[in-house]
Amino acid sequence: MIQSTSVESNSARIVVLISGSGSNLQALIDAVDMGAINGEIAAVISNKPGVYGLDRAKKAEIPAVVIDHRDYDGRAAFEAELSKTINSFSPDLIVLAGFMRILNSEFVQPYEGKMLNIHPSLLPKYKGLHTHRRALENGDKEHGVSVHFVTAELDGGPVIAQRKVKVENSDTEQSLQEKVRQQEHQLYPEVVAWFCSKRLEYKNGQAFFDGEAL
Ligand code: GAR
Repeated sequence: MIQSTSVESNSARIVVLISGSGSNLQALIDAVDMGAINGEIAAVISNKPGVYGLDRAKKAEIPAVVIDHRDYDGRAAFEAELSKTINSFSPDLIVLAGFMRILNSEFVQPYEGKMLNIHPSLLPKYKGLHTHRRALENGDKEHGVSVHFVTAELDGGPVIAQRKVKVENSDTEQSLQEKVRQQEHQLYPEVVAWFCSKRLEYKNGQAFFDGEAL
């Protein structure tokens, strides 16, 4: 017999980690509000106080927590508090949305397969910082954004989806960032929706979509 269950009871609990303006967080909040994601944002955690992403969370009435990494004696102590706080919200999915801290493998390992990151480059190109500048310096004709599962390797987990933008001769670091950011705001909610509707999975270090290896 098919049991009827409310959407609420199936709805995935999402914790979003930020460090800045939170424009990707906003795209996720909007997608949840529109019903495009079968999930709810249970909490937003920032490692930086005073960032605009925290205001976005508060405006959307989402619990917002600051865990300032500078208050902790080293990375391990910060990460211990971070994981304790994440776990207190019992998330099904952790979304890194402009979270700019490098994470130890001890922290990442328990979340493997349920933690996503968005990175502003066509991975494996340009891991790390200043991706737009590096694409311009190298004369790339295309650039873009990737969403991937997080593993212990920085920006190195299996890529789920990418969006490309054309690099024009007239592009600057700023204009390229804006073009890529627009793509981010479409791509991230889409991938999060796939995960929450169980179309996206992670097995043995690989990403699967509708059962097919990506
Ligand atoms: C985004 O462009 C995201 O891709 C990038 O930080 C920005 C956050 O913007 N993430 C990384 O560089 C991670 N390595 P937002 O705070 O407005 O969402």
